[in-house]
Amino acid sequence: MKQRNLYIKTFGCQMNERDSEIIEQLLLPMGFLPVADMGKADLILLNTCSIRAKAEQKVYSLLGQLRQYKLSNPRLLIGVAGCVAQQEGMRIQQKMPHVDLVVGTQQMYSLPELIGRLDNGQSLKPRIDLDPCFRIPALREISAAGKQPPSPAPRSFKKFVTIMQGCNNFCSYCVVPHTRGREISRPVADILDEVRSRVEAGATDITLLGQNVNSYGQTNQVADHPVTFADLLRQVAEIPGIRRLRFTTSNPKDLTDELMRCFAEIPILCPHFHLPVQSGSDRILAAMNRKYTVADYLDRVAGLRRYRPDLALGTDIIVGFPGETDTDFEQTMALLEEVRFHSSFSFKYSDRPGARSSSFDNKVSERVKSERLTRFQKRQDEISLARNKEYLESTVETMVEGEGKNGLVQGRSATNHLVHFPGTAERALRPGEVVLVRIDGAGQHSLTGTLLNEKI
Ligand code: SAH
Ligand code: SF4
Ligand code: F3S
Repeated sequence: MKQRNLYIKTFGCQMNERDSEIIEQLLLPMGFLPVADMGKADLILLNTCSIRAKAEQKVYSLLGQLRQYKLSNPRLLIGVAGCVAQQEGMRIQQKMPHVDLVVGTQQMYSLPELIGRLDNGQSLKPRIDLDPCFRIPALREISAAGKQPPSPAPRSFKKFVTIMQGCNNFCSYCVVPHTRGREISRPVADILDEVRSRVEAGATDITLLGQNVNSYGQTNQVADHPVTFADLLRQVAEIPGIRRLRFTTSNPKDLTDELMRCFAEIPILCPHFHLPVQSGSDRILAAMNRKYTVADYLDRVAGLRRYRPDLALGTDIIVGFPGETDTDFEQTMALLEEVRFHSSFSFKYSDRPGARSSSFDNKVSERVKSERLTRFQKRQDEISLARNKEYLESTVETMVEGEGKNGLVQGRSATNHLVHFPGTAERALRPGEVVLVRIDGAGQHSLTGTLLNEKI
């Protein structure tokens, strides 16, 4: 079989990153090996994100640049996968005729067949069916089908495992239910198998992924008895060899006491939690169709902190949702002061195709959105810095990631903080190893410290 070079450019969320890994594995048996240089590729695949207009624009702008690549190498294949592919379908090839292949979020498993057809000189229609029978095959099924080693990628200690696809929540601003389809949970046995095979291959840091993991198992039968996400988490945690377990994302409306208690009961569950609130105004939360109030959210935060006082809390915020007044925005700022999130991702509201809020009145101007975003981010930076200073003079278990800036070693704390520290000539550190670091410096986005000699 002829070897060919594959370059996948991944945009968007961790689920897309995991999908790109699966695509790599699917294409390996066809002789495709990943390369780091896009210029050397025989197949360039963009795995795309459509969450905000800007994300979609990035895809079109890169596709525009790829026209040149195709002119200099007519045998080059260009494909678009992921959420923009799902949303745009035919329109991609109408705007960008040099694109050979468009494959939606639930059709990526047909990539080997589609590429085979392109190899035979056939042209293809976009495959963007949101097939409700979709299920994510376990890793071993993919490798068995391809009769090849499971992954050409270097061994990595940090792995994502997708536990469900799609979303049923229809938050009014969000494109995801339209691009990923209805919620489907993977069977427990498949997930446990995949985690086990990850751990056997050297992973020690596992993150379970879904758009709303809290509703795992609620919308389709995934075991012979009802299973909650907390049940699944406990079963995954029993697999020997995992040092750190995380999960994302959670919608506060489905955050049960049972799940919050896991933070107290499962020792390897990291004290880091991403709980997107979106707004501090009940009026805006209702218009967003989030189905919780600020009081509900604060109640969950108090519960989480009761179970795990050292929990580092992160969130997502949208500023300038249609109809957001100065008063609504001040309520978001007040919530920031009250919770003092360790970190947050904040975004200007963006109209998305299919999302209900695109047709809402009272759109907020770009200028006001920018002002609000800047104000929010400035205050968050101050709070993050103050939060990070709370770690000064403490000893932090740090998982080594590799070489960081200025020749320092880069690692990550269980609270998900970046930790930088000087290595020593006597002790070679392996990525994935956990070491003790005494924190002596705190910035907005990272901590610095000194490696301690004690082993853990
Ligand atoms: N499933 C996750 C969110 C995934 S999208 C959850 O429910 O929390 C990641 C973040 O993008 C969202 O939390 C939201 O803050 C932001 N986002 C989603 N749609 C957006 C839009 N139309 N405009 C601006 N930000 C948006
Ligand atoms: Fe989008 Fe809401 Fe679903 Fe998250 S829970 S993916 S924000 S619809
Ligand atoms: Fe983006 Fe799709 Fe993920 S829109 S955030 S890649 S689910």
